Amino acid sequence: MISLKNAAQIQKMRDAGKLLFEVESQVREAICPGITTADLDVLAEQLIRRGGAIPSEKGYEGYPCSICASINDVVVHGIPSDRDVLQEGDIISIDCTLVLDGWQADSAFTVGVGKISPEAARLIRNTEECFWEGIRQCVAGNRLGDLGHAVEAHARSAGFTPIRDFTGHGIGRSMHEDPSVYNYGEPGRGFRLRKGMTIAVEPMIAAGNWHVEIADDGWTARTRDHSLCAHYEHTIAINEEGYPDILTLPDFDWEKTPLNAGGYPRISHLAED
Ligand code: MF3
Ligand code: CO
Ligand code: CO
Repeated sequence: MISLKNAAQIQKMRDAGKLLFEVESQVREAICPGITTADLDVLAEQLIRRGGAIPSEKGYEGYPCSICASINDVVVHGIPSDRDVLQEGDIISIDCTLVLDGWQADSAFTVGVGKISPEAARLIRNTEECFWEGIRQCVAGNRLGDLGHAVEAHARSAGFTPIRDFTGHGIGRSMHEDPSVYNYGEPGRGFRLRKGMTIAVEPMIAAGNWHVEIADDGWTARTRDHSLCAHYEHTIAINEEGYPDILTLPDFDWEKTPLNAGGYPRISHLAED
């Protein structure tokens, strides 16, 4: 069942989203060669709790940490560890969810550690562009198949592949609500987007093919071909005008976005943008 949110509820989610944006901005700044993913987890948990929120990944189906930290061929759900020391040339995806006053916010990004290969940078850029291609479709009346198709087409145009075993999702009082938001699909199919829907849109894009395998820890999902994978996620609401608000990106404004002119907003991992 899809639960629609009213304006007051969306405002609560926007408050949670703003805090998560601030937390992830600081985690992003801390990423450098030599830091461990356990260090990043401690930092995120401190910032979340200091903001009056709770890290909702911790304890979720037994997950042990406050962030997922997924390096290189890890797609999602990499468990932070003091044995995972970031190396120059790695790419790392940070995915974090928090709950503030009963409302969830969920966001992920991928960045390079120090200097990375042009191919890795191209993958990160394409993954963010896939997200924006999805957002362009997030207008009331469109369908989730329009979104999934746009994501998939943009990944494939660059020679990349959306992961199929994990999806975006509805979000609200629970981290995961209906509907599933696939990163592939057919135009005109699937649930219709409606005012008051709140969903996490999260393309996971592999440089190789989409098959994944889960490690013995029961969480870490790697590409089976060990190709690099990137992830980009925001929590969005379809607002009263029927347009997308990005709750985990406080500066986003549909009226002003270059998306409407065929461009993309600033690609976040590139300092020079
Ligand atoms: N943040 C994730 C998502 O995008 C969920 C994390 S799974 C957990 O849906 F186990 F880490 F909580
Ligand atoms: Co997430
Ligand atoms: Co999510």
